[in-house]
Amino acid sequence: MMNETMQTILHRRAIRRFDERQIDEELLQQILQAGLYAPSAGGKQGVIFAVCQDREVNERLGKIKRANSNPHMATAKNYVSKEQPSIADDPGLVNAFYDAPTVITMFAPKNFLFSADDCAVAAENMMLAADSLGIGSCYIGQGWTAFADSYGQEILRKWEIRTDYYAVMQLLLGYPKADDKHPAAKARKNDRILRFS
Ligand SMILES: Cc1cc2nc3c(=O)[nH]c(=O)nc-3n(C[C@H](O)[C@H](O)[C@H](O)COP(=O)(O)O)c2cc1C
Repeated sequence: MMNETMQTILHRRAIRRFDERQIDEELLQQILQAGLYAPSAGGKQGVIFAVCQDREVNERLGKIKRANSNPHMATAKNYVSKEQPSIADDPGLVNAFYDAPTVITMFAPKNFLFSADDCAVAAENMMLAADSLGIGSCYIGQGWTAFADSYGQEILRKWEIRTDYYAVMQLLLGYPKADDKHPAAKARKNDRILRFS
């Protein structure tokens, strides 16, 4: 029998098709708490979680990110997700944040070796918490590309982000579209496990 934590780990999938409504504030607080309680290198707790629920700002930053992304476009055999298409699957997607109602940019110090690791483990905690609460999430890498023009720079100043910090990634949150089936996991490459005794 799998416990609830294991069930959540197996159930979580990247969600890119979101319902328009904003997520419940109390659930957001729990997801943020999952981020705050994540491991961090040296216990430094250096990650900053910038939560943006301004739809116009999220849309503009998502479009800047799309314009600065050059993904290897999917093929019939090699795709990211048929059920929840990514910008690599569908060239028609103009917003790399997929119109998610909540976008959390995680910032961390520029000159710290473990900044990306710290953000990634916090993000996984949050994605699992989100799934367990019925909220869809998607990890978006290379967070800095969303700020790579004058509008993005203006937002960084408005949010008073320290200039010695950089945007590592974004975490998208929103309710999955009501009529969508929860996506299936791709087959696992189990031969990646090496065992020695
Ligand atoms: C480091 C990292 C970067 C990612 N960047 C993106 C991204 O920029 N855009 C996107 O749509 N999905 C992104 N993803 C989500 C992956 O595409 C997704 O996790 C993968 O296809 C497996 O699907 P699953 O999460 O449903 O198991 C990223 C995931 C990781 C771990």
